[in-house]
Amino acid sequence: MERVEEASDLRRILASVRADGRRIGFVPTLGALHEGHLAHVPILAAHTDYVVMSIFVNPLQFGPGEDFERYPRSLDRDAELAQKAGVGLLFHPQVATLYPAGAETLVEVPELSAQLEGVVRPTHFRGVATVVAKLLNLVRPDLTSFGQKDLQQLVVVRRMALDLHFEGEIVAVPTVREPDGLALSSRNTYLDAHDRKAAVALYRACRAGFEAVVAGERVPSRVEEIMAAVLGAFPRIRPDYAVVRRLHDLKPMERLVGRVALMVAARVGSTRLLDNLVMEVGPDGVRETLA
Ligand code: PAF
Repeated sequence: MERVEEASDLRRILASVRADGRRIGFVPTLGALHEGHLAHVPILAAHTDYVVMSIFVNPLQFGPGEDFERYPRSLDRDAELAQKAGVGLLFHPQVATLYPAGAETLVEVPELSAQLEGVVRPTHFRGVATVVAKLLNLVRPDLTSFGQKDLQQLVVVRRMALDLHFEGEIVAVPTVREPDGLALSSRNTYLDAHDRKAAVALYRACRAGFEAVVAGERVPSRVEEIMAAVLGAFPRIRPDYAVVRRLHDLKPMERLVGRVALMVAARVGSTRLLDNLVMEVGPDGVRETLA
């Protein structure tokens, strides 16, 4: 595996990969790698010839008072894991490489970004869209993967890539879970033992919503009540939202049909966690699906 910090080195290596006619897969990350990140590599490798991973704790997507300073950083360990997983090139730029002095261009997907996470983190998706646009321009991948766990991020990035005519496909990678259902997240390391136990509430709320739809419920507000009741049964959980939305634009629906997302966000102690479940609601029944 090659490791580069400079954009010029990244471009030089990728030019020669492309010149060999090899297709490029790309997974952008913040580092602190876990199985959830590593699961992207075989998926990209199955459809491309060379997998690039970026590790960059992007200051622009952290708001004031958020965890930018304490976000876990473990570059050497991450590099070992990435190499074992089959990454061909690890790009870990300095902040000044992606945001050189004088940089001021921002990428915004305003409507999609303002709701749900955007209510609590108003500048978050502008930071994500801006850095992802920069990374896509540098890497020019044939295929880029994003984890389904951050579902609104996936929807925002898909919109941005479409609106800005980025070439290359975007795929969702399924959420990897602990045995009790908790979605893997680098922020799970912040949870103490009590909070860790309570954190399973988010997954349980999504499952309860899903089961209600499987049982025939088609009114979104009733499904949302069921999800909220599950979260409410855990005293350590402070929910931000438990909602049912149309997948492609995250808009509320009148009745559940087509591709639908069940989305929850909650604080567990001082840690904010997210989870979701996506389903296809059709005339012949309901099945869980990938976003
Ligand atoms: O999901 C993440 O890890 C980050 O938001 C991303 C996509 C790497 C952008 O910084």
